[in-house]
Amino acid sequence: MYLVTGATGGLGRRIVRLLRERELSVRSLVRLMSNYAELEHRGSEVFIGDLSRERDVQKAVQGVQYVISAHGGEAEAINYRANIDLIDHAKAAGVAHFVFISVLGVDRGYEDAPVFKAKREVEKYLQTSGLNYTILRPSGFASNLLPLAEQFRRTGIYLLIGDPQSRTSIVSTDDLAKIAIESVSLEAARNQILSVGGAEILQRQEIPRIFGRIFNREPTIINPPLLAFDATRSLVGLLNPKGQESLGTLRALLANEFFCTPAETERIESLFNLKLETLESFLRRYLSV
Ligand SMILES: NC(=O)c1ccc[n+]([C@@H]2O[C@H](COP(=O)([O-])OP(=O)(O)OC[C@H]3O[C@@H](n4cnc5c(N)ncnc54)[C@H](OP(=O)(O)O)[C@@H]3O)[C@@H](O)[C@H]2O)c1
Repeated sequence: MYLVTGATGGLGRRIVRLLRERELSVRSLVRLMSNYAELEHRGSEVFIGDLSRERDVQKAVQGVQYVISAHGGEAEAINYRANIDLIDHAKAAGVAHFVFISVLGVDRGYEDAPVFKAKREVEKYLQTSGLNYTILRPSGFASNLLPLAEQFRRTGIYLLIGDPQSRTSIVSTDDLAKIAIESVSLEAARNQILSVGGAEILQRQEIPRIFGRIFNREPTIINPPLLAFDATRSLVGLLNPKGQESLGTLRALLANEFFCTPAETERIESLFNLKLETLESFLRRYLSV
């Protein structure tokens, strides 16, 4: 039995789908008000709980062999504390393997990015927990771009904040789901930290060009500088200091490059025996064009 947290999220949903396609048993931890009907229809057990409540975490791991932590949210309570609780209770419950979805660049010490800091602390805690683990550090998910592509389909407009030439290697969220599931049974993935990107390194300005090719439409790129984001963030800070703090993670994402080296990509492809998907292929599959 797998336990998947964040089972209603972009990644978690795909992990549950794939587990059920393979007829593997899975318990999805979901919040009461979340949209989890699809998971039930696919045959997942549903555990209603909230990760900010330790008692829910403790109950959810009972009888589970593998945990895939794929939830996201607020830095302290959800990215940090809920994962520490999950690790502790997984250990106490005799879980065989723990997969943690971290983030590419987590080890670069972005002081201003609370989610990055929380994830790095969780990585360290997991590494010394005594549990078998795999830490996956993905780049940005292709599924995040689906709503932007739909907006582009309607308007032809793409908003690109910051340097258009900065590089990224967007990962197919379906490839990442497969890698997360297979990490628990692959000897070579045990107790490893793996960076996971897509098939290619793209400049961010290539994303609207890909949209343009898919929809046969010339892109209009609106490209404010990072300074404009910083000014907005400072304004937010005057009204809501917490809001300003959480925008720090977004700033780290906008201001830096997140891509895997060819050697890291080759490693993933050979370990998991797969050919990583390009962004264009992922988008075409979902946008039915
Ligand atoms: N998206 C990216 O580009 C990217 C890149 C690198 C790493 N990551 C990491 O990958 C993981 C998955 O990302 P994602 O984009 O798939 O996430 P997502 O779509 O934002 O989903 C977040 C999930 O966490 C759940 N959640 C939040 N607070 C919760 C709580 N208190 N109790 C129970 N569940 C709670 C949400 O449930 P509800 O449906 O109830 O809200 C949802 O299922 C995250 O750890 C993220 O940091 C993401």
